[in-house]
Amino acid sequence: MRIVTTITDLRGQIKQWQQTGESIALVPTMGNLHEGHLQLVRTARKTADRVVVSIFVNPTQFGEGEDFAAYPRTEREDREKLHENAVDLLFLPAVQEIYPPGCNTFITVNGISDLHCGASRLGHFSGVATIVCKLFYMVLPDFALFGEKDWQQLAVIRCMVRDLNIPVAIVAVPTVREADGLAMSSRNAYLTPAQRRRAPKLYQSLLDAREMLVSGAMDFSVIEQQQVQFLAEAGFQPDYFSICCADNLLPAARFDRDLVILVAAKLGKARLIDNVQVKKSPGD
Ligand code: PAJ
Repeated sequence: MRIVTTITDLRGQIKQWQQTGESIALVPTMGNLHEGHLQLVRTARKTADRVVVSIFVNPTQFGEGEDFAAYPRTEREDREKLHENAVDLLFLPAVQEIYPPGCNTFITVNGISDLHCGASRLGHFSGVATIVCKLFYMVLPDFALFGEKDWQQLAVIRCMVRDLNIPVAIVAVPTVREADGLAMSSRNAYLTPAQRRRAPKLYQSLLDAREMLVSGAMDFSVIEQQQVQFLAEAGFQPDYFSICCADNLLPAARFDRDLVILVAAKLGKARLIDNVQVKKSPGD
């Protein structure tokens, strides 16, 4: 596995591969890699001739008072895991390489970025869209892989790619979970042992809501309120619990299309997010 830290070296390697007609898959990450990230890498391996992984804790997607400084950085372990998974190129830039002084251009995907997580994390999805767009122009990948765990992020990126006509195929990878159902996340490390035992209730709330929804017995807003209450009683500070359309993430009132149930809640120091899909399409 080759490791590069500059855009010049990155582009040099990419150009060589493109000249020999090899396809490229990009897996953008912020490091502290777990099985969720590695599942993206394995899917990338099966999808393209060359796999590029980026590790960059992107300052522009963290708000004031959020965990940018505390975000776990585990470069040595990450390198080993990527090496074991046959990654071809690791891009490990410094902040100044990506955002040199005077860098003033940002991407904003209007509408969808303001909902759900975007409502409580102002500017977050603009930071995400900007770094992902920059990485796309640096790597020019044929494929880019993202986890369904961050459903809204995936929706924002799909929207950006469509609106800016970026020639990349977005590949979505299902959420990888711990044995007790908790979605894997770097932020799970912030949980105390007692909180960690309670954390799977977040996924439980989604499964319960999905069952109620599919049974058709209840108003969606009643299901949402019940689950918010369930989470609050279990010691979470719920941010939102929302039944919405799977593509545009607008609130849904009827089960007449593919839906997704999104949740975000704080548990101690960790802000956890998760989601489940509720598919209408026959055969799903
Ligand atoms: P990060 O949180 O490191 O996640 C990198 C990728 O791994 C994202 O596409 C995310 O959805 C996916 N992922 C994380 N946990 C997962 C899980 N349990 N199952 C499946 N996929 C999972 O998301 C980011 O970084 C950043 O916002 C980034 C896109 C890199 C831009 O900075």
